[in-house]
Amino acid sequence: MSTASLQLDAHGRMKHFLCIEGLNRQLLTEILDTAESFTGVTEQTVKKVPLLRGKTIVNLFFEASTRTRTTFELAAKRLSADVLNINITQSSTVKGETLLDTLRNLEAMHVDMFVVRHNDSGAAHFIASHVAPHVSVINAGDGRHSHPTQALLDVFTIRRTKGPDFGRLRVAIVGDILHSRVARSQIHALNLLNTGDIRIVAPRTLVPAHAESLGVHVYHDLEAGIEGADVIIMLRLQRERMQGALLPSEHEYYELFGVTEEKLAVARPDVTIMHPGPINRGVEMDSEVADGSRSVILEQVTHGIAVRMAVMSMAMHHHKKSKA
Ligand code: CP
Repeated sequence: MSTASLQLDAHGRMKHFLCIEGLNRQLLTEILDTAESFTGVTEQTVKKVPLLRGKTIVNLFFEASTRTRTTFELAAKRLSADVLNINITQSSTVKGETLLDTLRNLEAMHVDMFVVRHNDSGAAHFIASHVAPHVSVINAGDGRHSHPTQALLDVFTIRRTKGPDFGRLRVAIVGDILHSRVARSQIHALNLLNTGDIRIVAPRTLVPAHAESLGVHVYHDLEAGIEGADVIIMLRLQRERMQGALLPSEHEYYELFGVTEEKLAVARPDVTIMHPGPINRGVEMDSEVADGSRSVILEQVTHGIAVRMAVMSMAMHHHKKSKA
C-alpha cells in the first residue's frame, strides 16, 4: 500500500503519520493551526488537557534520541495519555525477538498508538502496515527517509518567526543533505507551503543525486548559498551513516561550510538561525551563532511539544470518528 493511502483515510483524515509526502497543504496547515492552539497549554500552570485520557501510547525507539523521545513523551502526558517508554537495549529484542513479535505483544496490552524511531528507512511504514486497525503509528525518524514531526516543528517555528507568507521567504538548508531524513522532510514541507526559494548548500559529496528534482536550488559555496537568506537551517554531519571518506576532515568542513557571524553578513540582517539538533559546535557552526540573538534552536525544541500534541490528537481523533 502506498504511504499516502496508508496514512490518510478515504476522507483525507490522518490515521498514521509516516511522512510529509502525501499530505496536502490544507492538512499541513490544519496541523500547524492545531499546534498553535496547544502552545497555550504548555504555558499554563496545569499543563494538561484531557483529549487522550484513557489512551495508551508506546514510545518505541530503536535509535538514540534526546529531543524527539522526550517531547513525544511530554506531549502525550499533556494530552493525559498513559505513556510507556520501551528501552530497546533492555527489551527482548536483544534476545532475538522479531519486530513483529514485539509489536504483537505490545498490542496485546491494548496499546492505541506507537511512536517509532528506527534506523531502517521504511520501518514506520512497515509497522503501520501490520498493526491492528485501531492502532496509529507516528514516525519519529526512519533511517535516511523521513522525520516528519521535525519538519513540522521547523515550519511551525518559521511561521511563528517570519509570518504565514512562505512565498516571500528564501530558506537555505546547509550541511549533510545526503544522509538527512530531516532535510528530505523539510524540503517537502517547505514546498507544500509554496516557499519562494529553497536552497540546499553542501559539498558535492553530501548532495543527493538529482537534488534539483526535489524543487530546490543547489549551491556548493556557503556564502553564495546563504546570500539574502531569511532562514538558515544547519544540519549535523551524520558520520554514522557515511560510508567511505565523503569528507576530508571536520576542520576542513568547518572552514568551508561552518557558519560564523562573519559569514552571516551576506544573509538578511534579520536572518533566523535554526538547527534540529544535536548540534556540533565548531563543525557546522560557531557557538556565537548557535547561542546568538537570531538563533531559535531552543524554541524549535519547545515547539516540538505542541506540534507532537497536534499530530497525536489528530491521529487518535480519526479513530474515534471512524468508530462513530
Ligand atoms: N532533532 C532530533 O531528532 O533530535 P533527537 O535525535 O535528539 O531526537
